[in-house]
Amino acid sequence: MWSKVFKKGRKDIEQEEGDGDLRASGNKKDSSSGETTDEEQQLSNLTRSLRISEEIKYTDLTILQTLGTGTFGRVRLAKSKSQERYFALKQLKKTEVVRLKQVEHVNAERELLADVNHPYVVRLFCSYQDATSLYLLMEYVNGGELFYHLRKRGRFPLEWTQFYASEIVDAFGYLHSLDIIYRDLKPENLLLDSNGHIKITDFGFAKKVKPGDRTWTLCGTPEYLAPEVILRYGHGKAVDWWSLGILIFEMLAGYPPFVGQDPMEIYEEILAGKIGFPSHFESAAEDLIKKLLTADRSRRLGSSKRGVKDIKQHKFFKGVDWEDLHNRPHGPILPEVAHPGDTANFERYEEEPLIMGKTNVGSDPYEGMFDGF
Ligand SMILES: Nc1ncnc2c1ncn2[C@@H]1O[C@H](COP(=O)(O)OP(=O)(O)OP(=O)(O)O)[C@@H](O)[C@H]1O
Ligand SMILES: [Mg+2]
Repeated sequence: MWSKVFKKGRKDIEQEEGDGDLRASGNKKDSSSGETTDEEQQLSNLTRSLRISEEIKYTDLTILQTLGTGTFGRVRLAKSKSQERYFALKQLKKTEVVRLKQVEHVNAERELLADVNHPYVVRLFCSYQDATSLYLLMEYVNGGELFYHLRKRGRFPLEWTQFYASEIVDAFGYLHSLDIIYRDLKPENLLLDSNGHIKITDFGFAKKVKPGDRTWTLCGTPEYLAPEVILRYGHGKAVDWWSLGILIFEMLAGYPPFVGQDPMEIYEEILAGKIGFPSHFESAAEDLIKKLLTADRSRRLGSSKRGVKDIKQHKFFKGVDWEDLHNRPHGPILPEVAHPGDTANFERYEEEPLIMGKTNVGSDPYEGMFDGF
C-alpha cells in the first residue's frame, strides 16, 4: 500500500470552500505564449520586489539544471555570472497559478518568505515576473531533501529524529510568533544545508492568521492533514503541531502513520485515528506523537497558552539545549557536496528550457494580479 508514496509523488492538495479544483504536483506543459526581446527590453519588463534588500539582476543569472518540480513550474539551480554564487530559482507559471485559483497563495508565498528571517527557513533574495511566469530567487540549499536522505536510509534513529524535530519546533515557534501557519510540513519540503541543518522551503500554503482567527481552505498533503482540516472545522496554528507528529512518526518508522491508496482512504484513516506504533519506538517518542496526533485541538500539545514551550519541555527532547540550538555545529547527516553548486543530492529531471524576460504582445491578462513580484 505504502509503495505508491514510497517513491516521490506525494501530492499537495488545495481545495477552496465549494470549489471542485484539486491541486496536485506534477509536470505541466506551459500553455502560455510570449515573445523574447533583447536584454534591455526584457529588463524593463521585469519588475523586482522592492521589499527585499539584495538586488540580483535576472540578466546576471545563468540558468542550470532542475532541482525539483512543483505544481506551477520548477525550481532550478542558477549561477550569478558576476559572482561565484549559486541560487535556487523557483518558477511559477501564471497560467497554472490562475487556473488553479492560487493567486492569493502565491502572492502570500512571496510576501511571507520576504518577511521571515530564521536560520532554518530558506532565504529569499528577490522576486521577478515576466509575461508568463513569476520567479523567486532563493538561497541554494545543496544537501538535498530530507525525503531523499530518509528514503536512502529507510528510517532515522531517535537522536537524528530529535535533531531534525528540534529545528522544526524552533522554526515553527518563530513562524507562529509572527502569526504565520506553515501548513505544508513533509520531508519533501525540508532541505539539508551543507552542515546538515534543516532549511524549510515552499511557503506556498503559508498563511498569516490573526490570533484566535481560523482559516478554512483544505490544503496540504493528504498524509499530513489534521482532522480539523479534512472536516473543514476551521483551523489554526495547531495544524502545524499535528503535522510535526506525522513527521516524527515518519522519520522513526520510515513511513507515515496514516496511509491509503488515495486521499479519501488516507482521510478515513486519519479520522479513525488509530496509530500502529512499531515495536522499536521508544516510549518518549510514542508519548509525544500521541500528544501531537490528538484530534481534539484544545488538548493537542502546543495548543495551550504556553504554546511551543509544552513541546520543548516534552521528554522526547531531553538533552536539547533550546537556548543554544543555533550554535550546534552540524547535523547527524553531513551531505556529500563537492562544491557549492553540486547537485548530487537532488534527483535528475528531464530539462525544460527557461527563457526569462518574455514580454507580452498586446494586453496583459495577468496585469495587476501579482503586483508584489
Ligand atoms: N532553495 C532551494 N534549494 C534547493 N532546492 C530547492 C529549494 N527550494 C525548492 N527546492 C526543490 O524544489 C522542490 C519544489 O519546490 P517547492 O516545494 O517550493 O515547489 P512547489 O511547487 O510548492 O511544490 P509542491 O507543490 O510539489 O509542494 C523542493 O521539493 C526541493 O526539492
Ligand atoms: Mg513543495
